[in-house]
Formats: sequence, structure tokens, C-alpha cells
Amino acid sequence: MDRISNLQDELLCHVLSFLSVKEAALTSVLAKRWRNLFAFVPTLELDDSVFLHPEEGKRERDGVLQSFMDFADRVLALQGDSPIKKLTLNVNSGVDSDRVNRWIRNVLQRGVSDLKLFIGFGDEYRLPPEIFVSKTLVKLLVKLSVFHGFDLDWHVLGISLPMLTDLYLCSVEFCVDQFEMFLPTCPVLETLLMRHIKWNNSNVTVSSASLKKLIIESNGWSEHFVNPKSISFDTPSLVYFEYSDLVAEDYPKVNLTNLVMARIDLQLTEDQIDRGRDPNIDGLEDDGDNVFLRFGNAGKLFSGVKNVQKLYLSSDSLEVLSLCCESVPVFNNLKILHILSSENRGWQAMPVLLKNCPHLELLVFDGLLHHVTDRCGDACDCVSREDKGRSLTSSRVKMLCINGFRGTLRELKMIEHFLVSFPSLVVMQIFAEEKGHTFFEDPEMFKLVEEKLNIYGKLSSCDVKLVMPSDPLYKKKMTA
Ligand SMILES: *[C@@H]1O[C@H](CO)[C@@H](O)[C@H](O)[C@H]1NC(C)=O
Ligand SMILES: *[C@@H]1O[C@H](CO)[C@@H](O)[C@H](O)[C@H]1NC(C)=O
Ligand SMILES: *[C@@H]1O[C@H](CO)[C@@H](O)[C@H](O)[C@H]1NC(C)=O
Repeated sequence: MDRISNLQDELLCHVLSFLSVKEAALTSVLAKRWRNLFAFVPTLELDDSVFLHPEEGKRERDGVLQSFMDFADRVLALQGDSPIKKLTLNVNSGVDSDRVNRWIRNVLQRGVSDLKLFIGFGDEYRLPPEIFVSKTLVKLLVKLSVFHGFDLDWHVLGISLPMLTDLYLCSVEFCVDQFEMFLPTCPVLETLLMRHIKWNNSNVTVSSASLKKLIIESNGWSEHFVNPKSISFDTPSLVYFEYSDLVAEDYPKVNLTNLVMARIDLQLTEDQIDRGRDPNIDGLEDDGDNVFLRFGNAGKLFSGVKNVQKLYLSSDSLEVLSLCCESVPVFNNLKILHILSSENRGWQAMPVLLKNCPHLELLVFDGLLHHVTDRCGDACDCVSREDKGRSLTSSRVKMLCINGFRGTLRELKMIEHFLVSFPSLVVMQIFAEEKGHTFFEDPEMFKLVEEKLNIYGKLSSCDVKLVMPSDPLYKKKMTA
């Protein structure tokens, strides 16, 4: 104790800031001096789950919630109006939401710059509007357990977050046009991450001159979900873009001039897939009901990302791309293309996509199996065709990685086809599937597959390597 007591105040404060509030407060029982120092700890974590040990059933016991709230009140009172950098708040039902909002207001008044709120209250809860008028907030995370309206009281407070660079919103519902009004109030925003978002708008525009990283991940399958009819991205500084949502009917404006990396995961319903594969699709009338006919507008999204160096496409995105094959842009900067394949999604877009990536160096497949149609061209050899095209033979791709290999004959045939057709291929790495059924469980089969791959490799002068999960190289597998 004496050795500790001799430490300098500054150092003690530093040590205390690594402890959770509960631990730090327990420590402060030990010495009066510590208690006083505790008031100046610059980061606070108020977490009811740590405090309440819900796994022991304590949560239900009367008095425990009360003592957590009293404790938080006492801590904040002790800190007075000393500056604070960071508050992480994790509260769930049973905790008084008025008191929670008082704690949030308290740290906002004390100039908090990093605020992380994990709030598990029911849908009657509202965030304190003061969150949206902070001159000091740099990072804000709001994760709600159920959808909450983003109640911005524009008229009373005026929204302004002049320092905010990082915003993460989860399970938030915007009122009509609110998102469009909100973004300009964050003039230096660089990272925007939105999961589980309801727009409540038929047309959405993401417009920001400062934004560098954007992640939109909607829960497209929720029954209450409102899918925007159109979405625009006017974000010319954006470098990193992840977009996962049901495909919109239109992408009127896509300005992503400086994009380096894009991950596009457009989603289709099974019904939309079936209608898209209907051979009579060209003859169908657009009766306002057949939205599938309009998904050709997704071509505007793909054209907008044409400057990327690294592109990831989900299997549904490939299907969507096949509906706008005429407008597939030339990806002149693209070096790495990562394709997620799935057994019930087609590869019709692969020939034109490969042809339009003239500088591609690395091609990654998460799985090779796909829905076979007669429009895969030379991208696979699933159906024998007279005129297969030259998308592979004209490609300059040097390295091919195949993930999720199960050792089936179908996959082996495709690998052989790739080795024969890609003229510049020098390295092929095949990563065996880790989970589920593979042919490698049978050592005889493993030997057979390995021998076959060896023969292919020798014939093609490409270095073909089968990588098993036990191989140190397996850790270098490129994952999506
Ligand atoms: C969103 O729209 C629905 C239906 O039009 C409405 O009931 C709901 O209150 C709206 N939510 C917000 C936050 O505006
Ligand atoms: C939404 O966008 C569509 C297509 O771009 C357009 O036809 C429609 O008028 C827009 N609706 C509203 C309410 O702005
Ligand atoms: C994209 O935005 C930049 C910067 O605002 C602008 O100069 C450029 O003209 C825009 N491009 C398109 C295609 O709208």
C-alpha cells in the first residue's frame, strides 16, 4: 500500500483510468487520497451488466438496480465539473431512463469527446437532444436494442456537431428527410457506419464532402423494413465503401471519384431471382409492379465505383450485374476482385466483368459452385458451348485464390479450366474448406485430389498449391 501511496497523482490517475468504474470505486474505498483522484479520471465506463452480474440472476433482485444508479450518480457528483474525455454507457431495461439521460447531459456539459452508448431500453426511450449540439464530440456511437426514431428537435436546439469525425448508428429510424438535414451539420465527418437503419424515405441521399469511409448495412429482411426506392451517394472524398442492402430501383447520383475499396452486397429475394431468370423478361411489361425490370439502374451504382482498386461482390450482386451487362463500366484501376459464389446464384455477369477489368492481378473466389445457366460464357466449363468467348484468355490475372474448396469433381474441372484458359496465371492457391463435409476426410481422396492438382500445375506451368487448415499459409487466406 505504501509503495502505491508514494506514486505520483498523475500516474495514479492514469492507472485508475484503466479500471472499470466499479473497480476504481472499490479501490477508492481504500484511501481518501485515491477517492479524490478518482474525480479526475478522464474516462468513465458505466456498465450495468458488469455491475449487476445478470448471469447470477442479480438483476431481478430489488435494490441492485437502485444501487447501480445511486453509484453512477455519486461518481458523477464526485467528479463535479472536471473535464472528461470519454464515457462508455451500457444500460438495459430496469435502469431509469431519465437518470441515464441526465448522466449523458452531464458529460456533454463537461466537454466529452468520445461517447459510446449501448442502450437496451424499450421503444418509448428518446435520446437527449443535447447529443446533437455538442461542440466537443469527436466520436459518437449509438447502439439501440430496438428501432428508435431519431428525434431531432431542430427548432429548439439547432443541430450542430462541428468536431464530429466518427459516427456509428445502430437500430436508428430517421423521419422523412431527416438524414439529409442531419449530415450537413457534421462538416468534418470522416467515418459513418450505419447498421440496421430505417430511412422512412423513398429517396435517400448520402451527401458529404468530408466523408472517407461509409458503411451501410441494412437489415433487408425485416418485415417492417422500408427499402429506399432510390439512393444517391454524393461523397467525392470517399475512399472506403461498404454497401449491403436490398437493391434499390434507382441510383440517380453516384459520385465516388476517389474510391479505393468497395464492398457491394446487393440483395435479392428468391422471388426476384426467379423473375430475373424468366426467359421472357424482355417481353414483360413494366406495370409498376415488376420492380425487377428496373434493377438495371444498378448499373449506375457499378459505374459510380469504377475507379476502385479492390472490389468485393456478393453472389446476389453478380446476379444484379447480369441485368445491366450493357452498362458494366471498365474498371481500369481494379487490381483485386473478390467474388462470393453460391450454388443458387448465377455467373452470367462473369465474362463481361472479367473482360472489363484489364489490369486485374488477383482474383479471389469464395467458392466455385454456382447456378449453371447457358450464359456463363467461358467463365466456367459447366455447359459445353460452341462459342465461349475470350474473357479468360484475354485476362492478365496473375494470381487466383479459391476459398472453401471441397475437393469435388465439379470444382476440379473448373480449376483445370482456369489453368488452361488464364494465360498469365503464375500462382493458384486453393484453400480447403474448414467446416462441413469435404472429400478430404478420406485420405485416399485427398491423395487423389492432390495428385490431380499436381498434374494440372505441371501442365500449365502455374504454381498450384492446395492449402489445408493446418498449413501456416492458411492464415493468409483472403477473407471477405
Ligand atoms: C415512419 O413511417 C411510418 C409509416 O409511414 C410511421 O408510422 C412512423 O412513425 C415513421 N417514423 C418516423 C421516425 O418518422
Ligand atoms: C424518388 O426518385 C424517383 C426516381 O429517381 C423519382 O421518380 C421520384 O419522383 C422521387 N420521389 C420523391 C418523393 O422525390
Ligand atoms: C463529384 O464531386 C466533385 C466535387 O464536388 C465535383 O468536382 C465533380 O464534378 C463531381 N462529379 C460528378 C460526376 O458529379
